[in-house]
Amino acid sequence: MGDMRFDNRVAIITGGGGSLGRSHAIALAKRGCNIVLNDVGGSFKGEGADKGPAQKVVEEIQALGVKCVGNFDDIGSKEGGKNVVKAAIDNFGRVDIVINNAGIIRDVSFHKMTEEDWDKIYSVHVKGVFNVTHAAWPHMRDANYGRIVMTTSGAGLWGNFGQVNYSSAKMAQVGMMNALKLEGKKHNIKVNTIAPIAKSRMTETVMPPPMLAKFQPEAISAMVTYLCSEECDESGAIFEGGGGYYTRVWITQHPGTYIPVEQVTAEKFRDEVRGKIADATQAKAVPGLQEATMGIMKHIKF
Ligand code: NAI
Repeated sequence: MGDMRFDNRVAIITGGGGSLGRSHAIALAKRGCNIVLNDVGGSFKGEGADKGPAQKVVEEIQALGVKCVGNFDDIGSKEGGKNVVKAAIDNFGRVDIVINNAGIIRDVSFHKMTEEDWDKIYSVHVKGVFNVTHAAWPHMRDANYGRIVMTTSGAGLWGNFGQVNYSSAKMAQVGMMNALKLEGKKHNIKVNTIAPIAKSRMTETVMPPPMLAKFQPEAISAMVTYLCSEECDESGAIFEGGGGYYTRVWITQHPGTYIPVEQVTAEKFRDEVRGKIADATQAKAVPGLQEATMGIMKHIKF
């Protein structure tokens, strides 16, 4: 297979002024992709706004001889999401790729978490992803082409102390992908999710410098570039990685066990059922809700 090219394609990258977003944008631009680089430029907690970081990346990409337009809207507002997509349509007439990358953290243990800590996280990681993806979706449907990348986190997939807001919002993106992969299928819109580990202002305070040096965002962008390419044959997949190591994550289902409904009791569930479905090594990935439901239905004796 030859090199992946993105000539005449148009990609929106949210949070493109930050570490991973900048790297994704440059990776695609180097392969000929036109770029709409969005970033509000706030603090990592989601405070303030500054065009500076995104503008710098816009100029860096333009210096490569590639077309790149900056957008400085907050994707948490409906208008903001619309404006990002409008920038793509006004400047390039199409949108082929959306990389939902913008992010903030507001870490605090649950008993100290305020409503603002919750709402701010949801406004970027859930509403923001909805706003941009929803505005881009009709253009992708009309063009019968689209590539969407969600950015979840190990904190959501596996859980992390002090990140109840962030963990749950990041899993909302997995849920969006699971449903969108079905709605996009007949329109050639592919939706996948990454769970990255990379050097950025978010990880600089928790990872030691030798480790940070290995976790360059470019390793994540290689995976993102494939997921954004024409030849990508994945949809609905979760890829995790960092530092050059890649793995894949599935939501799995155990083959299960059956008791006639007339015999079911809480005690039976405690004493018999739980043990029979406890072995995670028997669990298997399922492609969608239909198959998962059938995995249950086929055992019921009517
Ligand atoms: P970063 O802080 O360098 O970049 C995030 C960018 O998003 C910032 O430039 C910020 O201004 C922008 N942003 C935040 N809210 C926005 C809004 N409402 N509208 C527009 N732009 C907004 O952080 P990093 O590490 O590059 O993060 C990128 C994504 O990867 C985030 O979604 C983050 O949650 C996720 N992630 C990163 C991990 C890591 O190891 N760096 C681990 C797991 C997930």
